[in-house]
Amino acid sequence: MGWYRGRMMNDYDVVIIGAGAAGLMCAAQAGYRGRSVLVLDHAKKIGEKIRISGGGRCNFTNMFARPETFLSGNEHFCKSALKQYTQDDFIELVKRHGIPFHEKKLGQLFCDISAQNIIDMLIKECSDAGAELRMNTPVMKISYRDNQYFIHTNDGDVQCESLVIASGGLSIPKIGASGFGYDIARQFGLEVTHLTPGLVPLTFTDDVLDLCKGLSGVSVEASVTCGKTNFAEGLLFTHKGLSGPSILQISSYWREGDSITVNLAPDTDVFSTLVDSRTKTPKTDIQKIVSLILPSRLAAAICDREAINGRVADLSNAKLKTLADAINHWTVTPSGTQGYKIAEVTLGGVNTNALSSKTMESKTQKGLFFIGEVVDVTGHLGGFNFQWAWSSGYVAGQHV
Ligand code: FDA
Repeated sequence: MGWYRGRMMNDYDVVIIGAGAAGLMCAAQAGYRGRSVLVLDHAKKIGEKIRISGGGRCNFTNMFARPETFLSGNEHFCKSALKQYTQDDFIELVKRHGIPFHEKKLGQLFCDISAQNIIDMLIKECSDAGAELRMNTPVMKISYRDNQYFIHTNDGDVQCESLVIASGGLSIPKIGASGFGYDIARQFGLEVTHLTPGLVPLTFTDDVLDLCKGLSGVSVEASVTCGKTNFAEGLLFTHKGLSGPSILQISSYWREGDSITVNLAPDTDVFSTLVDSRTKTPKTDIQKIVSLILPSRLAAAICDREAINGRVADLSNAKLKTLADAINHWTVTPSGTQGYKIAEVTLGGVNTNALSSKTMESKTQKGLFFIGEVVDVTGHLGGFNFQWAWSSGYVAGQHV
């Protein structure tokens, strides 16, 4: 048996590797255009990351998705795809499938019932479009000759004219994440930028870690700054360090050695509040006053750490300033992150310079496309990463 187009059952117009968000969107689009499409995935189940996303309810897009909410070596790269397939287009698809959803906050749209609704919707789209899904199929090797890609799997070989790599990033290896897409990019001469975990809790050592451990479970609304970037959202103390949305967001901008500045009471000028209290309630214990600003466990821990105790009347301006700075300008240097084991995304990926932003096709390797997280485009927390998967998947689906 040879490789002859049109004669083999395993001969497709398009093969997509990765039955995740981007791959399924691309498969449906290509199928609707009349292309014969096969999606291959080594995992047992379709769309595992969608299933676990958003705490099981999938934050499937964000009403305020725009290019500025994405990180990339080329900030302009994502513009074309986001414009060709917008959040409103995806919301319209979700509505058409009758999936109930709600805005949680900050434009973040979640399923009312379950993330499974989104997986079922994508499976139905693929089925309506005639795209075939083959799970449990590891890909061993890919080769290319005579304008055809040959995909060698544990279940036989397939060939195609357009090959789409939608195999995602490195986060959560236990549900199927792999570096496969980066290896294929390198095999065909495309550069892969530096890869690091993003949207991930930050870890600490020494006294900061001790403080975090002691406060594990305490959360506050905080404003966190790293360099010129700032996020104001929830912050959570954990037994390993700091987490919560503001920390996950800033982690994508943090680099080893950087410090971050945390404002634990962004709506309060703590120094003037303390000075006022000294005039109005001089006999009150300082911890009690700080407890009016912060959760009492946190207030006590900060006063103890700064060794500032007793009646506010007995405290100098210098002491009140030290305490205020520990709350409004807490500067700490993370030792690292909790890594790919729990990171939501991988920062970096296939260098966007190597791809057409209009089609997601390689500029040098005809018929080879990269979509979704494997590309060096990473969204903020809040539904942006799925929007990139839908937009890039849609765009490639029009051109494969
Ligand atoms: P995705 O990872 O979805 O799919 C890749 C597929 O390729 C997988 O099915 C995998 O099995 C397969 N694959 C990998 N290697 C392969 C190989 N060698 N051979 C064959 N198949 C292979 N984003 C968001 O916008 N809102 C949210 O609520 C969340 N929540 C969230 C929670 C958690 C816990 C995580 C880890 C991540 C999120 N995200 C998120 C991020 C979001 O899940 C992610 O950005 C998208 O799933 C990326 O879509 P892709 O299709 O690119 O990859």
